[in-house]
Amino acid sequence: MNIVVGVTGGIAAYKTVHLVRLLIKAGHEVTVVPTEDALRFVGLPTWESISRNPVTTSVHDDVAKVRHVALGQAADLVIVAPATANTIAKMAAGLADDLLGTTLLATTAPVAIAPAMHTEMWRHPATSANIETLRARGVAILGPADGELTGGDAGPGRMLEPEQILTAALGLLRPRDLVGVRVAVSAGGTREPLDPVRFLGNRSSGRQGTALAVAAAERGADVTLVAAHIEAEVLTDAVRHPSIRIVHAGTAAELGEAMRDAAEEADVVMMAAAVADYRPAEVADSKLTKESERLQSIPLVENDDVVAGLAASRRPGQTIVAFAAETPRDEAELLERARRKRERKGVDLLVVNEVGWQRGFEAGENAVQVIGTGGAVIASASGAKREVADAIWDAVIAERG
Ligand code: CTP
Repeated sequence: MNIVVGVTGGIAAYKTVHLVRLLIKAGHEVTVVPTEDALRFVGLPTWESISRNPVTTSVHDDVAKVRHVALGQAADLVIVAPATANTIAKMAAGLADDLLGTTLLATTAPVAIAPAMHTEMWRHPATSANIETLRARGVAILGPADGELTGGDAGPGRMLEPEQILTAALGLLRPRDLVGVRVAVSAGGTREPLDPVRFLGNRSSGRQGTALAVAAAERGADVTLVAAHIEAEVLTDAVRHPSIRIVHAGTAAELGEAMRDAAEEADVVMMAAAVADYRPAEVADSKLTKESERLQSIPLVENDDVVAGLAASRRPGQTIVAFAAETPRDEAELLERARRKRERKGVDLLVVNEVGWQRGFEAGENAVQVIGTGGAVIASASGAKREVADAIWDAVIAERG
């Protein structure tokens, strides 16, 4: 991909050197377009050597090649990082008094900006209005983060880290093939209380389910994410995405209720959460003690099977997807169990993965197979949970026709 990285005059420019490095490492062709001010923070030789391309700030260089518009026209993606309050104001007004300005006006590619400034400047009504203008024009606003700022201040205004900018900006290049589709995703693991301090739970971190929600939103869907005990850090991208509504649920019963609500409107239901099959028959009001016989054996009652219920009452055109984490002896048994589970639950698709003490749970990586009509394996994917999420969505889109 041809990526233009605009750099404006803020101290965070030093972090953009690393962003350019990451983009080059990922195999992209990068042209850096700094403003004059940006060069006070990081010099031209650094940008040229790191991007392996010539760098200029002026519209009067390379005139024969009409560089002032050619860069923007050829770009597949434009990232401005850091984006100062001044540059944001210029973008909102459509000013083009330097090469970055003309490039931004000449491009039809997706544009992402990573604002960086002091909290007061970020919160100023002028900046807020400019940001809203850019957002309405489809510019992706990445951050800023809340944290330490130069001069010892703290608050929102810190530029996102290069890795975060990379992921979010490259996300803009993904197909938007879920526009107009409403999606309900459950993720995480339920906890069934035993007393005020104990619960029966499981090891699901919610990473795969959250990645499914974020992938769907980035592909244009409206998403409700029903989250059961997912750490804030895992949820970061989902919280930040304007098309994702997060509903928190603790127990299987709460998750069931939230999913039934969300499913009323949803075109696709993805039950990625690890839902407890059973809950303690009684929940003690006060902490059970070692002497209490009730801790030696715990009577359980069965929870409703949420996904089977949703599948049984599905509307025409609604796609229901269940998940299964299995510990089989071999591949044949994995598929056999998955096929039976798909039939038993009455779902359209079942996504199965193998798990164990060392595999599948808190990891960033996953390997899955998607079982469809007649028990056929219609897709398989492995790698980062985000890539696996995209492959699962490809399979869902193919299934919906
Ligand atoms: N599930 C559900 N409600 C439950 C339990 C599970 O909706 N009470 C959903 C999960 O979200 C998942 C799928 O069912 O999408 C498979 O979960 P799993 O626990 O593997 O299914 P079980 O029917 O409990 O099968 P097993 O006998 O292997 O435990």
